[in-house]
Amino acid sequence: MKYLIFALAFSASAWADEPSQERQQELRNKLEHDCGSCHGLTLKGGLGPSLLPEALANKTDDFLVQTILKGRAGTAMPPWEAFITEKEALWLVQKLLKKK
Ligand code: HEC
Repeated sequence: MKYLIFALAFSASAWADEPSQERQQELRNKLEHDCGSCHGLTLKGGLGPSLLPEALANKTDDFLVQTILKGRAGTAMPPWEAFITEKEALWLVQKLLKKK
């Protein structure tokens, strides 16, 4: 019983770090369809700039997360905070940077 509680607590903390598998799939779809409509289907750039790892390499995670959540005033980049949490934006950034 003690071990079961430990296992549950452990998996709950692992969950807290990342969106659920289902949500990860939704975020991947969003990246392709919503983000891809401006950044290109393969994220190489279009109306919006390239989001490939090379293009983002010298920018901080926090700066990129804030860009996704708040958008960029005066540009076509819209804010996504109504649809994506900060944790999810960080997951997306790490995915874009291929850290995940
Ligand atoms: C309507 C078009 C549009 C959509 C949709 C869009 N973006 Fe953007 N995005 C832009 C533009 C334009 C910029 C460049 C802003 C600038 O000039 O600083 C940008 C910039 C960015 C940057 C910063 C890149 C850098 O080099 O600093 C990130 C990260 C980003 N977008 C992620 C996303 C993500 C993730 C999504 C989907 C959730 C998304 N964008 C959807 C137009 C868009």
